[in-house]
Amino acid sequence: MDTAILVNLSYIASSILFIVGLKMLGSPDTARRGNFLSSSGMLLAVLITLLDQNIIDYRYIAGALIAGSIVGYFAATKVKMTSMPEMVAIFNGFGGIASLLVGSAEYVSGSFDSPAFLGAIFLTVLIGGMTFTGSLIAYGKLSEVISGKPYLYKGQQFVNGLLLIVIMIVGVNMLFIQSYISAEQTLMLLAFLAFLLGILFVIPIGGADMPVVIALLNSFSGLAACAAGFVILNNVLIVAGALVGASGLILTNIMCKAMNRSLANVLFSGFGAAPDTAAQSTEEQGEVKPITAQDAYLILEAASSVLIVPGYGMAVAQAQHAVRELGELLEDNGAEVKYAIHPVAGRMPGHMNVLLAEANVSYDVLVEPEDVNPIMETVDVCIVIGANDVVNPDAKDNEGSPIYGMPIIEVDNAKTVFVSKRSMASGFAGIQNPLFFKSNTRMLFGDAKETVSTLVSEFKG
Ligand code: TAP
Repeated sequence: MDTAILVNLSYIASSILFIVGLKMLGSPDTARRGNFLSSSGMLLAVLITLLDQNIIDYRYIAGALIAGSIVGYFAATKVKMTSMPEMVAIFNGFGGIASLLVGSAEYVSGSFDSPAFLGAIFLTVLIGGMTFTGSLIAYGKLSEVISGKPYLYKGQQFVNGLLLIVIMIVGVNMLFIQSYISAEQTLMLLAFLAFLLGILFVIPIGGADMPVVIALLNSFSGLAACAAGFVILNNVLIVAGALVGASGLILTNIMCKAMNRSLANVLFSGFGAAPDTAAQSTEEQGEVKPITAQDAYLILEAASSVLIVPGYGMAVAQAQHAVRELGELLEDNGAEVKYAIHPVAGRMPGHMNVLLAEANVSYDVLVEPEDVNPIMETVDVCIVIGANDVVNPDAKDNEGSPIYGMPIIEVDNAKTVFVSKRSMASGFAGIQNPLFFKSNTRMLFGDAKETVSTLVSEFKG
């Protein structure tokens, strides 16, 4: 068979594997197989591309593959679950710079000059470059190498607007005029402007919104790869890039909805910059009622329905195994146990689902906020484990709150609420939580793993 036909048929097979794999990621039951299928599609695409004759010396490819695999292996196995968003940020950045390099190499080779090809190169360099620096800033904010505070300054919109105009002028020169400066100078200037745009785009956004930004940058890295696919006329790169671009956008939209905020609000409002005027001081809110794990056990022992609400603190404490054990003991004791998962609990999409799946908590007992909120009054005890913002009643009661309008798990309507956390410190949004002061709330102060393990020991007698 003709090599070109074989290559294209294999690319179609890879694309089908990507699409079917992506579809299977939609359910926890099929997600692992979906991931495997998509990775197999990528392996097939890489192998077929290597077999294609337009490839540089195999020794370079082998060297890069080995180096990349070693770095990837150690990065993925060593990374803590709570640092996963940082890793995704870095990977997005690498995707962006890879596309930029592909586009740049083609441009410097000067093998074509039609505006359509040059337009694809322009987009590859622009989107790839801004994805790279934007991802580095997102990584820095999440890992606290740089401050997570939104950096806002006077005239910001003007500077950004000016930058976009300059980029457009460079683009027009690159596509249609091709004069004034050499190809290399045009490329350097465009790459510099793209890098600058990435920094200026992410720096004004607060650390709390970084997961949304990362999903968006993920989408950008896909679009850059898609544009690179047009530059080198590689069908599978176009398909894979478009899939990443679209799924990143869908994920961004899901997160914005879960926080009841528009994308424009996330990108331009500088959420978290202003001092928290909505939050009241501890004294103004009333008295906090602590409880010991031993006393909490006595109440739990008599409960016939228990709702567990995990949040970021469960991930920090790595309490998921102890939580699963507690859930099983409660069920053995005759209680109906459910886990309510908020879409933005934790620091990345699906964070709580991943942790609970790791601890073998059945998917059947996981419920969404909209399923459980209407029947919250019937819940005897709600145990909040390291969650804060996602159970903050200010989101529905206090119009002045920065999180007003965000759908929450309305645990304050349960008969009794236990909150496991170490102190009165705020969550990611940096605001006080009136839940802690409600008459039906008892605070279980201490590390979540220790607290839940004590409850488990009490049940075991
Ligand atoms: P947070 O509001 O961040 O609260 C986590 C709580 O865990 C803190 O108040 C902390 O209190 C407690 N904690 C930390 N370590 C602990 C430990 N070892 N043991 C017990 N408690 C511990 O978490 P959340 O309710 O999951 O909300 C997530 C936040 O991230 C939201 O604001 C959400 O909008 C934002 N966000 C998430 C995403 C995604 S995709 N997940 C995307 C964008 C934004 P102490 O320090 O007192 O212990």
